[in-house]
Amino acid sequence: MPETHTRLLVVDQAAIEPEILQRLSVRSDYERIAAGAPIPLLTPGTLLVLIPEQARVLITRQDSDTDSNPDAIAIVLWREALNTDLDATLVDHPMVVGVLDSSCLADTTYATLNVGLRRLQHRDGPRAADMLERVLEIGRALSSEKDLDTLLDLILTYARDLTNADGASIYTLDANGKLYFRLWQNFSTSARSSAQKTLVGKYSIAGYVARTGEVINVDDAYEIPKTAPYRFSPAVDSSIGYRTRSMLTVPLKNKSDEVVGILQLINRKDQPNVLLSTPKDVASHVFPFDEQSQSIALALAGQAGVALENSILYKDIERLFEGFITASVKAIEARDPTTAGHSFRVAGFTEGLAVAVDRADGDGLRDIGFTREQMTELRYAALLHDFGKVGVREQVLVKGKKLYSHQLETIKQRFKYAGATIARESYRKLIDLQQQQQLSSEEFAARRREMEEMLASEGEQLEEFLQVVLRMNEPTVSRETISGDLEAVEEYKFPGENGEELPLLQPFELKDLSLAKGSLNAEEWKEIKSHVTHTWEFLSLIPWTKNLRLLPEIAYAHHEKLDGSGYPRRLTSAEIPIQSKIMTIADIYDALTAPDRPYKASLPVEKALDILHAEAREGKVDPSLLKVFEESNTYMRTVENK
Ligand SMILES: [Fe+2]
Ligand SMILES: [Fe+2]
Repeated sequence: MPETHTRLLVVDQAAIEPEILQRLSVRSDYERIAAGAPIPLLTPGTLLVLIPEQARVLITRQDSDTDSNPDAIAIVLWREALNTDLDATLVDHPMVVGVLDSSCLADTTYATLNVGLRRLQHRDGPRAADMLERVLEIGRALSSEKDLDTLLDLILTYARDLTNADGASIYTLDANGKLYFRLWQNFSTSARSSAQKTLVGKYSIAGYVARTGEVINVDDAYEIPKTAPYRFSPAVDSSIGYRTRSMLTVPLKNKSDEVVGILQLINRKDQPNVLLSTPKDVASHVFPFDEQSQSIALALAGQAGVALENSILYKDIERLFEGFITASVKAIEARDPTTAGHSFRVAGFTEGLAVAVDRADGDGLRDIGFTREQMTELRYAALLHDFGKVGVREQVLVKGKKLYSHQLETIKQRFKYAGATIARESYRKLIDLQQQQQLSSEEFAARRREMEEMLASEGEQLEEFLQVVLRMNEPTVSRETISGDLEAVEEYKFPGENGEELPLLQPFELKDLSLAKGSLNAEEWKEIKSHVTHTWEFLSLIPWTKNLRLLPEIAYAHHEKLDGSGYPRRLTSAEIPIQSKIMTIADIYDALTAPDRPYKASLPVEKALDILHAEAREGKVDPSLLKVFEESNTYMRTVENK
């Protein structure tokens, strides 16, 4: 049963236990009236517990007021002395719902008061009850709407529908007390409003309601007295050729009773579908907002205020989170400037492909669709897919050659050292010879020339070897290409300090230089691949909301392949989420077409698609998704936007 607002006034003489009043099942405000004090002005929906004398005065007052609705007030008589006979005309009066006295059991008192309050609840008949039921339903609909603009639009639609208002506007109040006009609807004009945010002055009606939290109900906006603390601006009316007459402005409050927005209803009509095209239409079809529309608007405002605040908070959290993700992505990419923009581009391609898949009805894709929340989840997963690179050493991330520059530097020094030790050894041998054989100066000069020629040729040899090393250091050169040359370097030995034979290259240097493809050795590949597990570990630490709970799992599978040849878990098609399959295509495509990196040239679009098709043929990436990626031009659109 929906509840409507009721008020309970109890005269001081009535000895009703406060616990009974607190137990009442029907919500109501409770006030006491001092003995002998005049009965205050009554609002509809009031139950009074009065002594017979007061009841008689009140009934006479209400009966003489032709505007009063006898169903809007109810009276319970309080018999002061148990033996007092009550006047039958009083007891039988339609406003009187029961008689209580000090001998009544608590349960009787409780039940009598409840009957009175319930009767007041239904005073407007079934229509009010239906309306309130609808308001509750609407409240549920509003509270599940997270998108602010959609929510504002829904509030306006429902509010107009419930009150027969021709037009409605909605405003939001920010944390700094600034009031913004957001959206309006109007049944009678073809002018349309789109989502906007315009600052509103504090002397406007909405500004006044925002400041005071009061409800302003005016019968004619053009007849507002000059002394009123607010003004109506006819500017909008004249710009759209409209005539605003009755206007109800109510605050939208949050759970803490603070104003978070304003709802303004314009021109309550006698029939919902009548168009107000001329001043005559306005004169004959527009009525002031009556008490019932006001209660309905207030009930709706109560629901809308809470939904509005939730939606604003939700948006704030979303913004905060987007900011955090952007900062995280920038932090990863700052470590490896050559991949700058990769995460954002992958997110763009992924989102584009997901939208296209949503629309596609090709092989196995007909039933695939993504909600707005799932799209957000997928975008965040794509933005953060490589976040685990924070756990990979920077020198490995940016390694562009088979050897690190410090390793190459050591090799260069070693080559110089080899030249120097060979020279030293040769000169020592010449001196020893001179000592032993006492060579003539001509013979000594001849031997020296011969030796220096040998040293020069040795120097040339070392230089050639160094060139081989430099060539081999390029990630595109495999050992097979220059196999013989590298073997000669491998076999070459030079004399060490004590005449021992030393190699020019250490085994690990030879191993790295011999890499068939790329610049990374097996350990470094392992380290790079570990980024996926780091991504998973990092993302799993975040307490994602229900809507984003699959995010870590989606990102975790971005290097898996349908045939189980991917990493790190070697999942197969059925185990890989469709979102990850989409992201994999986007990731590979961007890695191939990304702007030149020092160690990898950017591929033309056609070549990148050829590679993806080859992967699809090998059963590694999803062919249906790839088809959509290509046919929907997602790859081109996003490339243009990057
Ligand atoms: Fe990755
Ligand atoms: Fe990636």
